[in-house]
Amino acid sequence: MHNATSGGRRAPARGRGGLLAAGALGAVAVAVTAVLVVALPREDSTGGELPALADAHGIGLGVAVAVNPLVHDDDYQDVVTGNYTSVTAENTMKWQYVQPERYEFDWSGPDAVVGFAEHHGLDVRGHTLLWHNQQPAWLSEGSWTEAELLKVMREHMDALLGRYQGRITTWDVINEPLVDAGPRLRENLWYQVLGEDYIAQALTMAHEVDPDARLYVNEFGIEGAGDKADALYDLVTDLLDRGVPLHGIGFQGHFVHGSVPEDMADQMRRYSDLGLDVTVSELDVRLPEPPGPEQLEAQAHEYQRVVEACLDVPTCVNVTVWGVSDHHSWIPEWFPGYTAALPFDDSYRPKPALAGMVQALERRPAQRRPGHRP
Ligand code: XIL
Repeated sequence: MHNATSGGRRAPARGRGGLLAAGALGAVAVAVTAVLVVALPREDSTGGELPALADAHGIGLGVAVAVNPLVHDDDYQDVVTGNYTSVTAENTMKWQYVQPERYEFDWSGPDAVVGFAEHHGLDVRGHTLLWHNQQPAWLSEGSWTEAELLKVMREHMDALLGRYQGRITTWDVINEPLVDAGPRLRENLWYQVLGEDYIAQALTMAHEVDPDARLYVNEFGIEGAGDKADALYDLVTDLLDRGVPLHGIGFQGHFVHGSVPEDMADQMRRYSDLGLDVTVSELDVRLPEPPGPEQLEAQAHEYQRVVEACLDVPTCVNVTVWGVSDHHSWIPEWFPGYTAALPFDDSYRPKPALAGMVQALERRPAQRRPGHRP
């Protein structure tokens, strides 16, 4: 659970205006919190109210983290602990890094992330087990029989889920099972060797390894209506009909500015109606270069709408943004010509997007929901 007293949050700086002025200022601050968040100077960019607001709603607010700055950069740490209640390892728990050679495991990164989270009372989302990207060569280039590949899968799950059992309680077991655009299963290594049942096999296996973990399928391009969204829904209902252990759906939420769908809550609610948790697992909203103030304001509204969508869905448990600051975002490298996709800028200054998330949480009535938050 998130511990509201931990996390190195700083007390707000006090001015010299006397008690009356301080009281009046306080009232104004409550009324225009969002504006103040944007206007705060650099030193006060952390210590925000997001964690308490998220707590009041019973949802988690998460951020994807990279190991190096998480360990070495105080400002980076302050943004994480001051604004979020959970973390996802952006890369270091992926197969390529965890088991770079067969039977050679590197726990330095995952241990650093989990250790940091525990120290600061943050939850951890486990990301990810089966994915077509960021696999080590020995795995992706190996020639496997079904039995061998199932053994490889089991060994990896035993190692990774086993190591963090009880400490990481949510795992993206299946990542991006569908083709980029369209309603078909992606023909990844697992599909090629095991056939389409690899998804059920992997979920069943993960459940055997850690019966208490919440197991997710995580996907992009399913946030609004369309054949890909329907294909995932069909896949999920089939898995549930067959009794396969599946507990949640991650809506990645990598948006181009202007493309946040109106019906995102409807799409998420379909899974809620099936009894599944949902999470916005990798939120960012990328802007074409160079971003101007109007785009940043419009982006704030998009962040607000996404958080509102989560709050409107009874079993939406978490919204996680995909990176601590624009400086650390994957966007410029992966989507040339786009930038500024996150709630903090290159210098860790809060952007309007952060205020957008605050506004969503302030406007919707706080209603604690039971259950899981990461
Ligand atoms: C991305 C990371 O952000 C990059 O640093 C890395 O080079 C590639 O992967 N969907 C996912 C994430 O599930 O794991 C991806 O993360 C972004 C898309």
